[in-house]
Amino acid sequence: MNVHNRVSAIAKVACLVLLAPLVQVAPAGTLELRVRADQPGATNSRYLYGQFAEHLGSGIHGGIWVGEGSDISNTRGFRDDVIDALRRLHIPVIRWPGGCFADEYHWRDGIGPRDERPVRINKSWGWVEDDNAFGTHEFFELIGMLGSDAYIAGNVGSGSPQEMADWLEYMTEDKDSSLARLRRENGRGSPWRVAFFGIGNESWGCGGSMTPAFYADLYKRYATFLKAPGDYQPKRIASGGFDGDTAWTDTLSMAVARSIGSFFGMDGISHHFYTLPSGNFSEKGGATGFPEQEWISTLANALKVDDHIAANAAVLERNDPERRIGLYLDEWGTWYDRDDESEASLLWQQNTIRDALVAALHFNIFHRHAERLHMANIAQTVNVLQAMILTDGRRMLLTPTYHAFEMYVPFQDSTFVPVEHGEMPRYALGNVSVPHVSASSAISADGELLVALVNLHAGESIDVRVSIRGFDAAGATARVLTGNAADAHNTFDDHTVVVPVPLEVRFNQGRIDGSLPPRSVSVITLRQ
Ligand code: AHR
Repeated sequence: MNVHNRVSAIAKVACLVLLAPLVQVAPAGTLELRVRADQPGATNSRYLYGQFAEHLGSGIHGGIWVGEGSDISNTRGFRDDVIDALRRLHIPVIRWPGGCFADEYHWRDGIGPRDERPVRINKSWGWVEDDNAFGTHEFFELIGMLGSDAYIAGNVGSGSPQEMADWLEYMTEDKDSSLARLRRENGRGSPWRVAFFGIGNESWGCGGSMTPAFYADLYKRYATFLKAPGDYQPKRIASGGFDGDTAWTDTLSMAVARSIGSFFGMDGISHHFYTLPSGNFSEKGGATGFPEQEWISTLANALKVDDHIAANAAVLERNDPERRIGLYLDEWGTWYDRDDESEASLLWQQNTIRDALVAALHFNIFHRHAERLHMANIAQTVNVLQAMILTDGRRMLLTPTYHAFEMYVPFQDSTFVPVEHGEMPRYALGNVSVPHVSASSAISADGELLVALVNLHAGESIDVRVSIRGFDAAGATARVLTGNAADAHNTFDDHTVVVPVPLEVRFNQGRIDGSLPPRSVSVITLRQ
């Protein structure tokens, strides 16, 4: 049944509700939620589940790429264990090669025979050598294996418009230009599709320390020459602001609004937001072994993304009422202080059930902004910040964040469904308070009704009753991800500490009753 048929089934469902002998009152203390499948909203783009992979620590080298000569099982240099696991996430898009690294990256270093590529110093991250073994061809091979789209981040900070235009021509030209010929000589006959092209990264900081007005002019210059043939033209994404800042979004969207009939286009504005337990980069807080106060402050800080997206969306609504420009949250995730474990590699951090909740809270918020939020990319895929996968030599583990992404795969390209409730109970500690439960619902591309529920409380379960309107379900199944401690995490020796397990729910007369364990992420699936 499609969405519209489903809407017409409301009458039938309403009838059944009226004919039900007695509407049972939920037991005291039960949180009642109403899923309004009769009021479908915008599409939750699959790109809200995107990834970001940078040349940083062992994010690429060691984490994804080990080279053909490695004794770690690999296919043409790519780790088999990591690729297999990433495939299960149905990753829609990967942003590469940075981050800060992008504004120091020169694409010609990463093409041609590997043993002839120059060795450069990664001056953004750790002053380490990068042998450029992973370059443009390797990136496209990676996304080919994963079935993902390409999001290339171009170099504005230390590169020229010509260099950027040449890279796009190298990747996308099918005629007999010298650059297309060079690509063919390097082993790739047909052009690649570059779905998204970012024009610089964090141009307010590591990307060149610019003001919004200066960058807006620079954006126009670079974007004007960023041309690809026919439908190979990528969407062009401007480098925007961070956190609650709206000045970049304002200046950039106004620059477009004032440039009638311009030579450049702007499909999106990038925005970044990281979650820190303390909210302060000089003393962020640890990945494990934290007190309950840091559990709740981390979740409270993660929830701020809602206001940050709303503030920037409101600016876009004012400057771009036709909704041509999307907001791209192309870096988000947790960022902790380094601990002993992470000394091995820059920005390597442990990942616990708390991170899984941070991820699920972001997803639930993203869905509410799906009309303006066109993409979100977690930082980063492997071994860096809030990673899906951690590796140590030949060993690897899937993090709680990986499992949260996997549980939400059916939300990709789903249709938003509102969830109503009365006054939401709060979980409070000291002067910080967060909602006890975060909920999101959608109709999947396969026609299932999905209900995601996050219990933010560190120590208390909560009973829930979910009533469904506008979806004639035959039954419900559910999975839950939780841990036996606030910093529960998988280790290289035990991969099963935090993994999804079935959650018992009772389905009766269009209602679901269940209990959400403390610190948990649950996804309920209803089928017709
Ligand atoms: O993700 C790590 C870094 O965070 C990125 O390189 C940069 O864009 C941001 O500041």
